[in-house]
Amino acid sequence: MEWKEIYKKRLTTAGEAVKLIKSGNRVVIGHAAGEPSHLVDAMAENAKAYENVEIMHMLPMGTSSYCAPGMEGHFRHNALFLGGSTREACAEGRADIVPVFFHKIPLLLQTKCRPDAAMVSVSPPDAHGYCSLGVSVDYTLEAVKQAETVICQVNRHMPRTHGSSYVHVSEMRCIVEHDAPLKELARPKISDVEKEIGKHCASLVNDGDCLQLGIGAIPDAALSFMTGKRDLGIHSEMFSDGVVDLAEAGVITNRMKTLHNGKMIANFLIGTQRLYDFVNDNPGVAMYPADYVNNPLVIAQNDNLVSINSCVQVDLMGQVVSASVGHNQLSGVGGQVDFVRGAQLSRGGRSIIAMPSTAKGRVSKIVSVIDEGAAVTTSRYDVQYIVTEYGIANLSGVNLRERAILLIKLAHPDFRPELIGFFEKKFKCKYKG
Ligand code: COA
Repeated sequence: MEWKEIYKKRLTTAGEAVKLIKSGNRVVIGHAAGEPSHLVDAMAENAKAYENVEIMHMLPMGTSSYCAPGMEGHFRHNALFLGGSTREACAEGRADIVPVFFHKIPLLLQTKCRPDAAMVSVSPPDAHGYCSLGVSVDYTLEAVKQAETVICQVNRHMPRTHGSSYVHVSEMRCIVEHDAPLKELARPKISDVEKEIGKHCASLVNDGDCLQLGIGAIPDAALSFMTGKRDLGIHSEMFSDGVVDLAEAGVITNRMKTLHNGKMIANFLIGTQRLYDFVNDNPGVAMYPADYVNNPLVIAQNDNLVSINSCVQVDLMGQVVSASVGHNQLSGVGGQVDFVRGAQLSRGGRSIIAMPSTAKGRVSKIVSVIDEGAAVTTSRYDVQYIVTEYGIANLSGVNLRERAILLIKLAHPDFRPELIGFFEKKFKCKYKG
């Protein structure tokens, strides 16, 4: 059958499509700006028809009403990463989180966590019947390959991205047309502290380097200090509007990249409409799944790969906590360790963890001992550069006593006496910073 015929035959409403989900099913949903909100809302409205439907996804940008109070018994969210709307559900026992490196999520969907259903957002089909997964290819492509029931929200606002982002109409069990602008992440306000951190991060970046950046004010601040650099490249789990600024200014050219020369590589994208317009049908941007983009051995094929990520706490041994505040789970490992490792396997690569020295202006993020309940994200064996507004420490190959000295210098002055007290007790010597 011709794809246009298939398309017509499989076209339905969201209400009808979600009836294909059965009690006990595992449903994998596209995330971030790729969340198929219209389908998710229809599924949540149909809650009474389901018992124990497992919902898996990464970063939520919608309301996640399936894990709201009252949904127990109908749904259980098994998160791969937490965000604003799922954190509380996890804290209150209505959701769980699976510790998993981002690059291993596609493999998880092939093996232990095969989905029964996948719900994703796609662009309208091209002349050959291919729709693009657009801004979220990460694990969605694998979910589509593995699930028996593939339900697609066809949204004309979804950009068509190049790379491996395509799903053919014949692979879809149900097609629901629903146009809605993609969720946007406003550009962060950059504080003076974040500017200082950004300046330090940018000082570690050379002309021709290939960058990976996380989300938020620190990556944006770092990029804002790179306007004088030349021929930067992007191989990143995700990127946002700050990268568009530098690409349009001719600073990011991808000309020196040793893998995918001339192209920016990512597995998902979140930002404003400007970003979504920039990536639409742009052959200079290629989207691939996380088992490729985030695989440390693939990352390492980019020479001079510099990764810049953030965290919650660093202890004096250099152990980095990024996904929890004490017992409170904030997020997940995401691609942090993938890139910390990949960057250091890359010829000339560097890995940076950058953070303000304090949280909420009153808690030191550099601590003698990590909070009870917190989990180490980047271990003291993997850590390399730590940056705060007070400077830069390269912990690689540095012994524990010297690491502590370097890290105390990066702490806010108000907290240094306490850290020095701990240092002198632990190392049985006077602190001579
Ligand atoms: N003690 C107490 N509270 C702390 C804290 C600390 N040491 N550090 C952070 N917090 C609080 C903040 O004050 C903030 O609280 P609020 O929401 O009430 O304002 C909250 O925790 C989140 O911290 P913030 O610094 O705003 O986080 P962020 O949105 O910039 O994200 C991470 C930072 C670490 C959570 C995020 O980088 C992450 O999830 N990392 C792991 C994944 C990753 O690195 N992926 C790679 C690329 S995407």
